[in-house]
Amino acid sequence: MKRTLSYLVLLVLIFSCTGKSVPPTINPQAFNKIIDGKQVKLYTLKNQQGMEITVTNWGARIVSCMVPDKKGVMADVVFGYDSIDGYLNAKENYFGASIGRFGNRIAKGEFALGDIQYKLAQNNGINSLHGGINGFSKKIWEVVQKGSNELNLKLVSADMDEGYPGELQVSMIYRLTNQNELFIQYEAKCDKPTIINLTNHSYFNLHGAGNGTILDHLLTINADFFTPIDSTLIPTGEFRPVENTPFDFRNPTLIGAGINSKDQQILFGLGYDMNYVLKKSPDQNISLAATVYEPASGRLLEVFTDQPGIQFYSGNFLDGIYPGKKGKSYGYRTGICLETQHFPNSPNQKNFPSVELTPDQVYYHTCIYKFSVK
Ligand code: BGC
Repeated sequence: MKRTLSYLVLLVLIFSCTGKSVPPTINPQAFNKIIDGKQVKLYTLKNQQGMEITVTNWGARIVSCMVPDKKGVMADVVFGYDSIDGYLNAKENYFGASIGRFGNRIAKGEFALGDIQYKLAQNNGINSLHGGINGFSKKIWEVVQKGSNELNLKLVSADMDEGYPGELQVSMIYRLTNQNELFIQYEAKCDKPTIINLTNHSYFNLHGAGNGTILDHLLTINADFFTPIDSTLIPTGEFRPVENTPFDFRNPTLIGAGINSKDQQILFGLGYDMNYVLKKSPDQNISLAATVYEPASGRLLEVFTDQPGIQFYSGNFLDGIYPGKKGKSYGYRTGICLETQHFPNSPNQKNFPSVELTPDQVYYHTCIYKFSVK
């Protein structure tokens, strides 16, 4: 309590001395907690441009991300809570979370590897979503190394954790460069054949989190095809051209323009909630997948990845009930997620790129969120 008070006094002092409207960053003390005998904390990464990111090892989550606008004014552009208790008490929306073992849905929580049938927790109607009930987003990751602009985390997921076979060893890195890029890199190894699809579930609003909807953001997605879904949001296996649909973001397009269309796919998702098949030439390893631009602030977010797909989710299930950081409300369609990934339900769709991992292989995944102004 005393510490929290002195922290607040310090912030007020800084604020009044500089006279600049620097939004206060997160109080790290509010993230100190022992959960299941493990220490949860908040870690801060900074670069030479003044960009600052905080990450907690509870779910390896991005908590805040301070980015300048075209006038140099900083704003926190991701959703999150002011304290670890905020995360523990709120409805699960996966704010900033590292998702695993499997991002997005697996139909009926079932899949087979060879002759063996596996059963996962059904935590989203009849389907399994984002790794199940106690997925990686709720695990306490071990911090292996911390530098001024880099955090290395590790997680060991036991054999049959949430129903997934094999022990999985995951290492991940958050690195903030001086070019205002946030690198998120995952590496994983298993001791038995298993499946894997990790991703990051940050919600972005380039006005600043909690400052209105994302309907005025301009989006591009480098994809000619998407994977249409059924009424439970499971891909049907089809690759459908985006052309002449509200899913065409090949050129910068307002998110609000097609979000209320009567297209059956929009109706199923209650807005945008779709996996895109990213366009790649064979020699491209990491390439530009999507861009988001908010004209008033001039903030531009570019997303690069080596993954075959990206989930564009327009925050259709957000209800703003639990107040976020600084009491801000994150309501309906106020955040955009761009989750680099393998396609949902891949284990049950043989025509989708394989998500199987065997003990002789290493899983790699890079996602880069790059910020600039225009
Ligand atoms: C999914 C949505 C889901 C949301 C949960 C997204 O990745 O595509 O369907 O409701 O995560 O926050």
